Amino acid sequence: MEITIIRPDDWHVHLRDGELLERVARFSAYQFSRVLVMPNLNPPITNTALCLDYRDRILRGVPGELDFNPKMSLYLTDQTSLQDVFDAASCEHVLGFKLYPAGATTHSEQGVTRIAPMMRLMEEMAKHDTVLQVHGEVTDQHIDVFDREAMFIDQILLPLHEEIPDLRIVLEHITTRQGVEFVRDTNSNIAGTITPHHLLYNRNVMFSGGISPHHYCLPVLKREEHRMALLDAATSGNPSFFLGTDSAPHTRQNKETSCGCAGIFSAISAMEIYAEIFEQANCIDRLEGFASRFGADFYQLPYNTGTLTLEKRNWKIPLYLDGPDNESGDQITPLKAGEQVSWAVKAGDG
Ligand code: NCD
Ligand code: ZN
Repeated sequence: MEITIIRPDDWHVHLRDGELLERVARFSAYQFSRVLVMPNLNPPITNTALCLDYRDRILRGVPGELDFNPKMSLYLTDQTSLQDVFDAASCEHVLGFKLYPAGATTHSEQGVTRIAPMMRLMEEMAKHDTVLQVHGEVTDQHIDVFDREAMFIDQILLPLHEEIPDLRIVLEHITTRQGVEFVRDTNSNIAGTITPHHLLYNRNVMFSGGISPHHYCLPVLKREEHRMALLDAATSGNPSFFLGTDSAPHTRQNKETSCGCAGIFSAISAMEIYAEIFEQANCIDRLEGFASRFGADFYQLPYNTGTLTLEKRNWKIPLYLDGPDNESGDQITPLKAGEQVSWAVKAGDG
């Protein structure tokens, strides 16, 4: 059995820079035509000039024959200016600004400290149809880590949407029932991306048989009821929910340590895993909308002209992606490392 879909897009990915970029970017390019590249480098990608340089480095890091078109999100800071918004709006490669509440996740130190002073900028974004991509978690250390997304929706997103209803917002990597409800029950200017790992796992997996750093990501995995809500949303055919892997590679050295970083690397086998999830939910026919159409519709871009064929065939996801020095600290552990997956991208396609 096989299925052929319009070539998909990944609307949330971390491709990193330098040596790491050269190791990981090609995997996204094998599967996806467009990707929305997150700007949380160190230092962050805060304006269009920096972002166009970064985009060139990305293109140099992937085999030229692949149909790959990185789209960019700029890092919103307290210093972002109106000119930055105008520049972004007039660049075809930039699709929006990423709002990281300062301290919410990896390399978010330079993120936004207060929303109120940003309103003028956001009104301008709305005027230019520039999208705001949001990491939706409050950062108050007194708030339980599992409640941070729901709290962010109540305290920040609902008032923001009420104040500027024309502002188009993607709530990235939604992880809760409240995230699903917010996206579902607001107007079509609001969308949400869903990762493979939040569809696969609830929070138990981080603690089964010991602490598992390779299942630690932000926003953190939640209870089973939230996973079920995400699965329903992703497979519902509602165009407000679409694919964003949040593939976020870190080396083993940085994951398997006393204070391991957050992030799950899924680019090696993202489409295969999504296909397995949709098949198990008895709606493989809805994969194409989620992976190839709804995101393009939201970003007002044409569908890709190529196709991707997935065939039913077992293969084993590798345990590691080796590093340049062939030392274990360099290795990157992918999602479902060492496990079988029952779908495979058909060679020679795309
Ligand atoms: C991301 C990273 O490593 O850059 N980590 C993660 O857990 N998802 C940052 C992010 O998207 O929050
Ligand atoms: Zn991310």
